[in-house]
Amino acid sequence: MAEIEPFHVMALLARARELEAQGRSIIHMEIGEPDFPTPEPVLRAGIKALEKGEVFYTPAPGLPQLREAIAGFYRTRYGVEVPPSRVIVTTGSSAALLLACAALIDPGDEVLLADPGYPANRHFVRVMEGVPRAVPVTAADEYQLAPSHLERGWGARTVAAIVASPSNPTGTLVSTERLSAMADIARERGGTLIVDEIYHGLVYEGDTTTALSFSENVFVINSFSKYFQMTGWRLGWLVAPQRAVREIDKLAQNLYLAPPTPAQYAALAAFEPETLAILDARAQEFKARRDYLVPELRKLGFEIPVMPQGAFYVYAGCAKLTRDSFTFARDLLEQAGVAITPGVDFGSNAPERHVRFAYTRSIGQLQDGVARIAAFLKKS
Ligand SMILES: Cc1ncc(COP(=O)(O)O)c(C=O)c1O
Repeated sequence: MAEIEPFHVMALLARARELEAQGRSIIHMEIGEPDFPTPEPVLRAGIKALEKGEVFYTPAPGLPQLREAIAGFYRTRYGVEVPPSRVIVTTGSSAALLLACAALIDPGDEVLLADPGYPANRHFVRVMEGVPRAVPVTAADEYQLAPSHLERGWGARTVAAIVASPSNPTGTLVSTERLSAMADIARERGGTLIVDEIYHGLVYEGDTTTALSFSENVFVINSFSKYFQMTGWRLGWLVAPQRAVREIDKLAQNLYLAPPTPAQYAALAAFEPETLAILDARAQEFKARRDYLVPELRKLGFEIPVMPQGAFYVYAGCAKLTRDSFTFARDLLEQAGVAITPGVDFGSNAPERHVRFAYTRSIGQLQDGVARIAAFLKKS
């Protein structure tokens, strides 16, 4: 437990809520979830399911019709055939990551991860008694693992590497070519590439082919949380190689029995054309926010060497403005009423020189946030 850290941003969020309770106005640029409500057709499907009494356990790998709908989504969106039997519906992609780690890691096994990266990953590895091997990545690598990192870092005990594209916190992508090369390297060494595609659908340029289009050996993680805007419904999925499905089913049964039933019925409406039209319009809104925010932050002195191509995050260097991003974030909240996430949440690769901005607020609020940061910087 001593090696499991909390999300530091939660303390910041709690403080922000406290200040709000005292009447202060806070611009939230720390929150890693869409501000849009769940689309109407999904809500309606969820309500209907509850009214019909769909409140009992489903099979551990999920409702068969939802597994089929997810497989259908791979066909229509990516042109990839995935048998529904390989799709395991999970309690958020968090459970998908947990299942993947549980299935792949024995005590002492190593997993390669990008630093900065999504903080929970190293803890998933650790709770399975694995050893997370953080690989420092920089703007030169577009803040992502590259084939050369795997070639250099893959040791005798390495069993997997985890890649998220687009990434949290950097919003950057891994090209299909590199992803495919990394899947090959992992397979040649008897290991596995885990590819977290949770921010697919929120990609503003560049290509986002699913890793399933070039490998049957990868574990692909996805979620209804971000693009589908269903964070609180707690629903995600894992596409695993056929040979691993039985083991994963067994793990899901034991770890949490089944993903939430009403949420699964609601999610059946997530792939309807009516819902996808709403979601794609909202993705355009996220792009407009990014296009507004990145140049404004650069003008203020934040360094953003790589344009984030997806998700809803900007990972910004703040070395010209402060020597300590944690104190900076705290002072910005207390003095200017703007909440952002300090780098410490994403690893140990120069966290004191980085902060993350989430553009999960309207352009109007982002403009207010930028004005407040400008005034704060002028004073300090
Ligand atoms: C990269 C990444 N993976 C996985 C998750 C887990 O999300 P959920 O469990 O809601 O699907 C998150 C949440 O922020 C994330 O940023």
